[in-house]
Amino acid sequence: MAPGHAKGIRWQPNVRVVPESEAPAAPAALDGRVCVLSGATGGLGRATARGLAGLGARVVLLARSAEKGSALVSSIRAELPEARLELLVVGDLANLEDSAATADRLLERYSRIDVLVHNAGAIFSRREITTNGFERTFALNVLSPFVLTCRLARRLVESAPARVVNVASAAHRMRTVPWETLADRRPYRPLGAYGESKLELILLTHEFARRFAGTGVTVNSLHPGLVRSGFGRNNPDGLGRVLGWTLSVVGRSPRIGARTSVYLASAPEVRGSTGEYFVRSRAHPSSAASYDPAAERRLFEECERMSGCRFPAQLGPEGS
Ligand SMILES: NC(=O)c1ccc[n+]([C@@H]2O[C@H](COP(=O)([O-])OP(=O)(O)OC[C@H]3O[C@@H](n4cnc5c(N)ncnc54)[C@H](OP(=O)(O)O)[C@@H]3O)[C@@H](O)[C@H]2O)c1
Repeated sequence: MAPGHAKGIRWQPNVRVVPESEAPAAPAALDGRVCVLSGATGGLGRATARGLAGLGARVVLLARSAEKGSALVSSIRAELPEARLELLVVGDLANLEDSAATADRLLERYSRIDVLVHNAGAIFSRREITTNGFERTFALNVLSPFVLTCRLARRLVESAPARVVNVASAAHRMRTVPWETLADRRPYRPLGAYGESKLELILLTHEFARRFAGTGVTVNSLHPGLVRSGFGRNNPDGLGRVLGWTLSVVGRSPRIGARTSVYLASAPEVRGSTGEYFVRSRAHPSSAASYDPAAERRLFEECERMSGCRFPAQLGPEGS
């Protein structure tokens, strides 16, 4: 199916990639809005947290290490003493129980969630299977945001207008969904598994956008550009070294890379945008393979089956 033909998915055919200087840069104040951010301790996460806090948001930082999380809070407060930051230690989000427990703790602590940014993500040079029986890239980059969004769906609707922001990647291009090896990725190719996971995250973005339609909750994805972050450094081998070196040479700063996430979380002009993919704060077509309603629905249902987490059948309409 051609891009833009998916039911309920808007696509702007005349979008062009614009230089950074031309990109809209007008995020609005987020005064006290609750913004939940995963992967907050990484390069893009820290810059996104800083950007959201700078707009006055109450930023809930999901970190898998208390030590790293506390250091992050201190470093942002050193720059921005007024920052409203709250740390939640989440364990390993690739583990389904930890993702579910994170959602439960968020539901206990926060009576509203205005923005949910799924930023945690990684590439793995070696195939690893989690205790739940899923390949780790798929578990972290796809199943975890799926579980969090499903479990937080009602709270997002109650908080509407609310926004879900999925940090995908241009690495989704040229990839297809490996339906036969969705859970175990055999044979395993690190770059392939990573690109596929980001394609899957975009397909889920479209299906979530469709299922949240009429509730006031929007769901969009983005590519942050190549960014000088810790990306790939979890691999103490050739892949980690090559990625680290490449990003240090061609990557842009995390602050610039985080702009699109902060923009989607805050800008008034994207209030009504949903099911779209953004690059440099502009809607942009994702790959043709990512606009396939049958694949979107099939993947959503597979994720429900694999995670045991179901999207609520009935969600209140906007304003009800
Ligand atoms: N950098 C790029 O060029 C680039 C390009 C396109 C897309 N992206 C995407 O951008 C997002 C942010 O990546 P980044 O570049 O900022 O990389 P990063 O510096 O490696 O940050 C990754 C973040 O995810 C967290 N994380 C990793 N595995 C986790 C797990 N199992 N459970 C909980 N948290 C986990 C990390 O926590 P720790 O600090 O504890 O490790 C860290 O906070 C990712 O989704 C990535 O795929 C990056």
